Amino acid sequence: MEISCTDKELFIFKKIAHAAEELNVPCYLIGGFVRDKIIRRATKDADIMCVGDGIELAKTVTKYFNPQPNVAYFKNFGTAHIKADDFDIEFVGARKESYRNNSRNPDVVPGTLEDDQKRRDFTINALAISLNKNDYGKLIDPFGGLADIDNKIIKTPLDPLQTFSDDPLRMMRAIRFASQLNFTIEEKTFDAICADAGRIKIVSQERITEELNKILLSSKPSVGFDLLFKSGLLKIIFPQMVDLAGAEYIDGKGHKDNFHHTLQVIDNISVTTNDLWLRWAAVLHDIAKPATKKFEDGHGWTFHGHEVVGARMVPKIFSRLKLPLNEKMRLVQKLVELHLRPISLTKENITDSAIRRLLFDAGDDIDSLMLLCEADITSKNKIKVKRYLANFELVRQRLKEVEEKDRIRNWQPPVTGEMIMETFGLSPSRIVGDLKNAIREAILDGEIENSYDAAYKFMMEKAKTLNLEPVK
Ligand code: CTP
Repeated sequence: MEISCTDKELFIFKKIAHAAEELNVPCYLIGGFVRDKIIRRATKDADIMCVGDGIELAKTVTKYFNPQPNVAYFKNFGTAHIKADDFDIEFVGARKESYRNNSRNPDVVPGTLEDDQKRRDFTINALAISLNKNDYGKLIDPFGGLADIDNKIIKTPLDPLQTFSDDPLRMMRAIRFASQLNFTIEEKTFDAICADAGRIKIVSQERITEELNKILLSSKPSVGFDLLFKSGLLKIIFPQMVDLAGAEYIDGKGHKDNFHHTLQVIDNISVTTNDLWLRWAAVLHDIAKPATKKFEDGHGWTFHGHEVVGARMVPKIFSRLKLPLNEKMRLVQKLVELHLRPISLTKENITDSAIRRLLFDAGDDIDSLMLLCEADITSKNKIKVKRYLANFELVRQRLKEVEEKDRIRNWQPPVTGEMIMETFGLSPSRIVGDLKNAIREAILDGEIENSYDAAYKFMMEKAKTLNLEPVK
């Protein structure tokens, strides 16, 4: 089997081979590195497995480098890591392990090469390449991983129920690899995921979310989300998304299936951006539709306020999924809240003030918001899609014109809260906020000019109506 390694990789592998020979322990390249080389996908780090002590091998390997890299090791797990010439290498001793039911702690005992390959998650991840003198470069493939790569199949080396009970996160990994590589999960393996889905509960949220993010970052995330849905995993890890599924009918009138609509929006936005948080905004843009759904006589189905309620749901969902509660979350919240605004600007006779307001509310995130809105078009009618996109193009133009004229993105009104407090001798209070808002609104509405003088004059007039006197 020919795989193409860089000169640097070959140079490093030779050194590892020498160190292993010195210790007289057989050693192999294994796992994702081998898989990705065969698929011709970019590789990041390499896993080295030896039939012996992985930490001792790592320490010996460093002697072959000048300067010698540091060894970071975890005695409990028998693993070690070095970074040589900017290349990350993990070392581990071959082992047999099994996780006791309802426990995250494995029983690990040393094993043979085959024991180690057997306990790995998928046949495509169990391929090993020998670094030993007698058969250097030989591919060792006891479970048909190479054929599974050719046929694009995800399959466990052992009975899937056994492999998944050893580490239930592997159910998510199967779906993640299917989504990333566009592979199919073998039927028996998928059936086992459906049967065992409940065991995902013993896995830490951080590991689950890491896989969810990888699914979301794959080129067509709907593949992964659909499998999560069909296997029952999504219901357990992210029930709000499952609530979007299905269409209800009253008087023969139905609404669209918002789960499948959402999947389409995620795929659409994934064509235009690799940004994880914009993709999360696509996942969550309609998340409050089930909570706001009503059937109104004469109107049919409505979801009034779903963008506001949805934005309010974001922190809870981020918190449960252990996603960061920081400015990334606030970006997602903002995009969810504003996702209907550009559509309202596609009507005729839109005033500059409506455009200014959106620029003010979206600030620097206006371009991201437009991407989300364009991704939100999921009609199957090509003529309609063309019309909607053309309308958004007009909105983009208007946004550009008004921004060039008024510079509203990142704009702050010319009279600040401090100035208001100083002028009227006020301490921070509601009335200061009211005055500040009134000035901002007057400028955004085009009632007064965007200048200090106009804003000051307006503030003095407004203050009079509130019986406020300036301090001398
Ligand atoms: N592995 C496993 N079970 C897991 C995690 C990992 O059997 N739950 C094994 C697989 O053989 C895998 C290797 O450990 O190939 C390395 O794991 P990891 O670095 O997490 O994944 P990769 O396969 O390298 O893929 P990626 O880097 O895309 O996560």
